[in-house]
Parts: sequence; C-alpha cells; structure tokens
Amino acid sequence: MVGARPQFIKSALLLRELERRQIERRLVHTGQHYDHAMSQVFFDELGLPQPDYSLGCGSASHAVQTAEMMRALEPVFERERPSYVVVFGDTNTTLAGALTAAKLRIPVVHVEAGLRSFNRAMPEEVNRVVADHVASILCAPSERAAAQLASEGIRAGVHVVGDLMIDLVKIVRDALPERPPILERLALTRGSYALATIHRAANTDDPHAFADIVSGLRRLPLPVIFPVHPRSAPLVTAFDVGAGDGIVPIEPLPYEDTIALAAHARVVLTDSGGLQKEAVFLGVPCVTLRNETEWAETLDDGWNALAGTDPSAIERLALRPKPLMASRSFIGDGACAQRIAEILIERAPASPSNACGAQPPKTATVS
Ligand code: UD1
Repeated sequence: MVGARPQFIKSALLLRELERRQIERRLVHTGQHYDHAMSQVFFDELGLPQPDYSLGCGSASHAVQTAEMMRALEPVFERERPSYVVVFGDTNTTLAGALTAAKLRIPVVHVEAGLRSFNRAMPEEVNRVVADHVASILCAPSERAAAQLASEGIRAGVHVVGDLMIDLVKIVRDALPERPPILERLALTRGSYALATIHRAANTDDPHAFADIVSGLRRLPLPVIFPVHPRSAPLVTAFDVGAGDGIVPIEPLPYEDTIALAAHARVVLTDSGGLQKEAVFLGVPCVTLRNETEWAETLDDGWNALAGTDPSAIERLALRPKPLMASRSFIGDGACAQRIAEILIERAPASPSNACGAQPPKTATVS
C-alpha cells in the first residue's frame, strides 16, 4: 500500500525485490498525494510499477480521508484476499490499510515499526501506534525500535530489518554526478546554502508557528532553498516568503534532486522524518523544526538538533559547527528489502492448494 510521497520512496526497493523473487503482488495507491510532483514523478524516477488499484482518495479531514480509504480498500482486499497487506510508515494511508486489513483478518506487515515521537498530538504518532498494535509482522528499522515495541508488550512477529530509505539513499548518493544538475539550475555552490522543508500539521495549521520558522530562516546568512509542500504553499504566499529575504521557494523536488541538494547543503532544516535521517546519513548537520523526533538516533553525536519553531534556536543551531565524530546512526547495509522479502516467504500462510498436498508455492501475495 502506498499513498503519500515517503511511501513511494520506501516501497521502491521492496517492490524491486518482490519482482526479482517473482513474489506475486498488487500495488494499491490510495491517492492521498495526487499532484504530479508529489506522486507520479516518483513512480517514473524510481521505476515503480503502475498501481493495480488507484483509489483516488485525495485530501479531506483526517476522519473523512481515512474513512474514504477504508471504504475503497475493503472490496479490494476482499477480492484479492492477499496473504499480507504491507503498510509503510505513519500516514493516513498506513492507518487505513492496517485497520481495513486487520478487520478482514488479513495479516498486516508494518514496515518502520516501533518508532515513537511520544507526541500524540501528531496525527502520524496515532497512525504508527495503531498500525503497530494491529500488525502481525513488525519490521523494525533498529534494535531501539524493537525495544520500544517490547516495552508496549509487542514481542511476537518483530524483526529488525534495517531501513529501506537509508538503503535507497545510499544507492542514489553513490550514483550522484560530480556536479548534480539541480545545483547548476539553482546556481549553488557546495556547502554554501541551506535546504529547508516544512509540512507538518503543527507547523502549517498554526500560522504563528510557520511565521516563527520563517523568521528563523530569514536570519541565516546563506541562501535557504525551500521546496514547498502543497500544505505550506498558501503560507508562503501569505508571508511573502522569498521576497528578497534570502529564502528561495521552489516546487517540490524529485527524489534524486532532493538527495543531491541535501548532500551538498551546509545544513538541512526540516520537520520531515525522512529528511532528518537522510541528512544525518549524508553527513550534513540537521535542525529539526519540531520539539521531538521519532528518529532519536539522529540526535546521537550532535548531527541532529531540535529547535522547535524558536527563531533564535533555529539560527543558533543552523550555524553550529559540524560534529567532529562521524555519525554511526544509520549504516545501510543494503539488505533491508531482502530481509523483508524473506520474512514474507517464510511466514506466508499455507494456501488451500498446499492443504491438498500440492507443491508449496514460494510466493506470497502482497498488496
Ligand atoms: C502526509 C503524512 C505525513 C507525511 C507527508 C509527506 C498523514 C497524516 N501525514 O502529510 O506523515 O510526512 O504526507 O508529504 O498522513 N496536497 C496537495 N497535493 C498533493 C498532496 C497534498 O495539494 O499531492 C495538499 C492538500 O491540500 C492537503 C494537504 O496538502 O489538504 C495535506 O495533505 P495530506 O495528505 O493531508 O497530508 P500531508 O501534510 O501531505
């Protein structure tokens, strides 16, 4: 199941691995993200197969968006009766997929299990907690995440598999050209600009929070490249962001351009979970525009720092010296997708044909 931008990225290597092993699967796109730049761009760039089901459930309130997805998913799951439903991360797509499958008693596989910000005001935190508690197979990115699950009483079905996003960023980083085209296009030199992204509800639903972040960004003595998520676009206009203030608002970027910009930035400032760990993995200091992070390991060794929305903290932390010690938080051994695929094959419930003594298929149907 995919639906939102980070899920197109997280699913890419797993879909390739399922293809390689000829594991039968259906791809469902809920339509949570639907703009070309938020969706199709990633299908094209990452070579994702076109979805078998496109549900077209776009924007709405949380209840309506989640409910529409569940209504649309139920007949799909009933028709396909997959061995598993695989959900990624913490979005409303994750929640809808996990709940619908659990109610149909189809085993849920949650990729990125065990992460917690401990802030239940975040819609994503509610989504992760629910997905973890209804999942049968929990693919945790780290021992820390597995320990969190254990502390909540979830021990069965937990596997530490690594991180699909880190495996992908490593591949893309290693293939970046010497002079990435996005740096040419924006006339940037390495290490002389900041990269910023803002999209969390807490920072975009409250104009004061957004204004405070912008005021922090305006204090930085270097250009701030700001790919604007659709959620932030009205605020960019309302606060005249980019009108001679050193901030450069641009359209949402494809994946490789984002990684290229992050890899060569002096600092990354973001409220995104994915970009925090990508920055740390790429050896670029990060300032998180929130008061907490579900990726606690990014804070180890000082590579990430929590600024909230305080303009002075944003300025001070953005200009802090680069940590001396390299981060050891995210290794990325490239084997996460293989591990998940192996778990799916090993744990696949017996199909009716097995019961009749037929050769057990080495396949699992995955939505
Ligand atoms: C969602 C996820 C968040 C994830 C983020 C990545 C939830 C609760 N949040 O947040 O965890 O980090 O995606 O981007 O699921 N919009 C468009 N075009 C699009 C997509 C969205 O215009 O293609 C606009 C809509 O007006 C919508 C708003 O952006 O109301 C927010 O979209 P939504 O899907 O509710 O959540 P995100 O903020 O993108």
